[in-house]
Amino acid sequence: MTNITIAIDGFSSTGKSTVAKLLAKALGYIYVDSGAMYRAVTFYAMQHNFIEENYLFEEALVKSLDDIFISFKHNEELGFSEVFLNNVNIEKEIRTLEVSNFVSTIAAIPEVRRKLVIQQQDMGKAKGVVMDGRDIGTVVFPYAELKIFMTASAETRAQRRFQELIDRGDEVHFEEVLDNVIKRDYIDSTREDSPLIQAEDAVLFNNSNFSIEEQFEKVLNLAKSIIKHK
Ligand code: DC
Repeated sequence: MTNITIAIDGFSSTGKSTVAKLLAKALGYIYVDSGAMYRAVTFYAMQHNFIEENYLFEEALVKSLDDIFISFKHNEELGFSEVFLNNVNIEKEIRTLEVSNFVSTIAAIPEVRRKLVIQQQDMGKAKGVVMDGRDIGTVVFPYAELKIFMTASAETRAQRRFQELIDRGDEVHFEEVLDNVIKRDYIDSTREDSPLIQAEDAVLFNNSNFSIEEQFEKVLNLAKSIIKHK
């Protein structure tokens, strides 16, 4: 069977990764969470005091980019890949609101994007990949056979993210999560370098009113029909 490349882009907390993981599992493809890579760079910047009181020492971070090595390792128990920064598992650390609050600023730095896009393209070289992010269908894999663009109302997305953080035991308020979702969408969509936009040939999915199962089924059917006609 021919392998294809599947790009899933969209606004934050639209449930892209849930659908992408299920899809990759059903097709036997690898799944890559590109947002985790931007989060890993953000975490590195925090660890190295390149972010202090909301100020980013951008030049210092850019100079250190060669020291940042990001990798993914499959966790058999959990059934998905976890992200590692210089061989240390940071999957949990990158999901905090603190990282979320700074990640869009880091993701707007062209040098950071250049480094991560090269690695992402390399991971997708053999096809058979489902990657989610913001610029996968437009920049990373412009020739992907299937492109999905996901959206949902900011409130629906904030509610989803809020629940995830509460389930992890984080102390957060709904309003600050909503505020973060709106701010990130704004920065991600208006940055100069590869902003979040729907690729012309992407299928639009407004998933506010669809369950995960319904979304998964729709995307899986699309993928199967493309694979069948390859
Ligand atoms: O998918 P996520 O919420 O974990 O992504 C975190 C941030 O990383 C998001 O606010 C924008 C940025 N990002 C990006 O600019 N390009 C990507 N391909 C993936 C994520």
